[in-house]
Amino acid sequence: MNYARITGTGGYLPEKVLSNKELETMVDTSDQWIRERTGIEERHIAAEGETTCDLAEQAARRALQAAGRETGEVDLIIVATTTPDRVFPSTACLLQQRLDIHGCAAFDIQAVCTGFVYALGVAEKFIRSGSVRCALVIGAETLSRIVDWTDRSTCVLFGDGAGAVLLEASDEPGILSTHLHADGSYESLLTVPAGISQGYDKVRQGEAFMQMKGNEVFKMAVNTLGRIVDETLAANDLDKSDIDWLVPHQANIRIINATARKLKMTTERVVITVDRHGNTSAASVPLALDTAVRDGRIQRGETVLMEAFGGGFTWGSVLLKY
Ligand code: UT7
Repeated sequence: MNYARITGTGGYLPEKVLSNKELETMVDTSDQWIRERTGIEERHIAAEGETTCDLAEQAARRALQAAGRETGEVDLIIVATTTPDRVFPSTACLLQQRLDIHGCAAFDIQAVCTGFVYALGVAEKFIRSGSVRCALVIGAETLSRIVDWTDRSTCVLFGDGAGAVLLEASDEPGILSTHLHADGSYESLLTVPAGISQGYDKVRQGEAFMQMKGNEVFKMAVNTLGRIVDETLAANDLDKSDIDWLVPHQANIRIINATARKLKMTTERVVITVDRHGNTSAASVPLALDTAVRDGRIQRGETVLMEAFGGGFTWGSVLLKY
C-alpha cells in the first residue's frame, strides 16, 4: 500500500445561477467585458441559509457513492475552505456529524484558492505514512458571502460550490507528487481585511469583503504557475508531452490558457469550467476534476496535473495517475 489514489469524485453546485446579464443590472459591467477578460458566463450562488457545509455534504456523498464506499469506512476528513460555516467547530467537524462518522480526525485547511491542492497534499501524507486508509478531501466555498456586490472589479468573478474526492491507500500508483508553496509578503494584494482578532466588528456588521489588486494578482499567477509546472515535471522526470490532462484552478481563462501554452497543451486536454462556475476558490479544482471524470474525458491510468494559485499568496500542484 505505497500509494494514495483517488477512488471517487463528487461535485455540487447550488441551484441558483447568476448570469452576466443579471450582473449588468447590479453593477456597471457588461457581459462582453466579463467574457473577454475572464471567460466567465455564469456562476452558481448559494441560497439564503445554504452553507458551505451543505454544499460539502452533497459533494462528499457523491464522491463516496462513486467510490462505492460507506461513510463508516472514512478515517480522515479534510475540508479546504475560506468560507467556513462558523468560527468553530471546523466545517470538517460539522460535516463529520452530518455524515454520522465518529472519532476520526477532521479539520479544515485555509489556503484560499490553493486549499484543495494543500488538502490533497496533506491527506496523501497521512495515507503514505500508513496512519489513514480512506480520506475524504473536500474543497467547498460560499464566496458569495464575502463578495462586495457593489464592487464590479471582484463581484463578477466568484461563485459558490463544492468538490470532493475519496483518497485511498492503494498498491497502484495514484498521487505521484505534491508541491505546496506560500509567500505571505503578498498578503495585501488579495485579502478580506477583517477577521476574528482583527476587525471583528466588520464581520459582525456584514462588511468583511474581498479586496483584490486584480492586475498584479494576474501577473503573479501566470508567472508562478509557469514555474510550478516546471518544478512538477522536473520532480517526476517527465516531459510536457507526458501530461494527459491539465486540471487548473479556474480563476480566469487567460491564466489557464497561459499555463496550457507553457505545457504546449491544446485546449482539448485542459479541463475548463470557469465559464459555468466562475472562480469557486478551493472548490474549483475538485469541481473541474469531477466534471471531466463524470463526462468520461479523464480515464483510469491517465496522467493528470492539477495546479492552483490564490490569496496568501499560496500556490501548489498535484501530479497523479488517475
Ligand atoms: O483565484 C485567486 C487568484 N485570482 C486571480 O487569479 C484573478 C487575477 N486577476 C484577473 O483575473 C484580472 O486581473 C481581472 C479579471 C480581475 C481584471 O482583468 P484585467 O484585464 O486585469 O483588468 P484591469 O483590472 O486592468 O481593469 C481594466 C479596466 C479598468 O478600467 P480602466 O481603468 O482601463 O478605465 C477597470 O476599471 O476594466 C475595468 N473593469 C471593469 N469593466 C467592466 C474592472 N472590472 C470591470 C467589470 N466590468 N466588471
